[in-house]
Amino acid sequence: MKSAYRILRVLLLLTLALLLSSRGVGAKGGGEVRTSHKAKSRGTPVVLDLENIQRTPERLERGKYLVEGLLQCTSCHSQMDFAHRPAQPIAGTIGGGRVFGRGSRPEGTSIVAPNISSDPEYGAGNWPDRDFVRALRQGIGHDGRTLFPLMPYEYFRNLSDEDLASVIVYVRSFAPVHVPQPKTVLPESLAKAIHPLAPVEHVPEPDKSDRTHYGKYLVTGGHCKACHTPHDENGDLISGLEFSGGQVFTGPYGPNGSIAKVASLNLTWDASGISYLDEAKFIEALKTGSVTARPLATAMPWSYFRNLTVDDLKAIFAYLHTLTPVTHRVDNTEPPTYCRLCRHIHGLGDKN
Ligand code: HEC
Ligand code: HEC
Repeated sequence: MKSAYRILRVLLLLTLALLLSSRGVGAKGGGEVRTSHKAKSRGTPVVLDLENIQRTPERLERGKYLVEGLLQCTSCHSQMDFAHRPAQPIAGTIGGGRVFGRGSRPEGTSIVAPNISSDPEYGAGNWPDRDFVRALRQGIGHDGRTLFPLMPYEYFRNLSDEDLASVIVYVRSFAPVHVPQPKTVLPESLAKAIHPLAPVEHVPEPDKSDRTHYGKYLVTGGHCKACHTPHDENGDLISGLEFSGGQVFTGPYGPNGSIAKVASLNLTWDASGISYLDEAKFIEALKTGSVTARPLATAMPWSYFRNLTVDDLKAIFAYLHTLTPVTHRVDNTEPPTYCRLCRHIHGLGDKN
């Protein structure tokens, strides 16, 4: 997973997100994200108390559904067994954190997903709920540091207040993992380039009856775009190639957990994308981790998405249908070759 997440050196994207949020847009979420000053000037929305989130069985259940089905918190914040199909966290490590290391990032970098379990000494046991809200909406750690954007906060900030509250209730129910993790270390150039996002005061519930709109909300939370868009040499998403695949992940995704390279695939409605998948095949792919007879690597978080309801998978499919088609051939069953379009080396690269 180390270099897999080289992709998330999305510094320019962060700037973009800042731009969006300072305009009070937050269009990505499907819901309207309001920054504090906007909210005030428009009258006071009904804002959930996110300082002291009430634990309810409904929130625990919704939070579990979102985390285990869509948001994949445990995939980064636990030791993972990617050789198992579906991939699963190793027992006793859930929320206990994981060292990603340097990957292909600049020398002097070490990225660590911290221990966010309820352990009071090494985890988040004593943090107020507010710390989780700030981490998920602004990319600010409990100690005030700006979080490296491998943590997908620019996507998570679009979660509605109620969904955010549910996620926090569920994640804070993890058993203590009494394991210390080292701190993330960033070279100065990298540390200087990342900035927290503007505060978000209120994100309303998405309209679940509008399936395409709700599909967009789910696709944002599941941060499909972060993996399914190729990144340039600086870790920025290549514009014009959104959702068209080609980003290469290196990790224990081969047979018996051997190290393998796997590229994300084109999710747009093009002949080189997923126009060959009907709704039923799409749902089957995300439910089973194989597209007809072709198995999908565990780098693709189908191990989580398989827990989504068929209705929610249909909503995701409906939204993907609306993406601008991009012609970009990517195929992991073909030998990797250089691609002039995305400048990565992947199957069918030489055909682009
Ligand atoms: C793709 C990997 C990834 C996913 C998915 C992910 N995180 Fe993180 N998270 C990280 C990394 C890496 C950091 C630390 C970044 C740093 O130290 O600069 C982090 C930091 C955090 C922090 C701040 C911890 C502190 O020290 O203050 C919290 C809280 C957190 N994550 C919660 C979550 C929750 C809840 C989810 C799911 C909704 C989640 N994360 C999903 C990688 C991830
Ligand atoms: C952590 C990175 C990551 C995330 C997040 C991710 N994917 Fe993927 N996805 C991949 C990779 C890598 C593959 C290729 C797997 C293979 O070929 O074995 C893939 C393959 C797929 C395929 C198969 C396409 C085909 O033509 O066979 C579909 C469909 C898909 N992803 C949908 C999604 C959706 C929808 C989301 C968000 C809800 C998503 N992915 C999020 C990495 C990711």
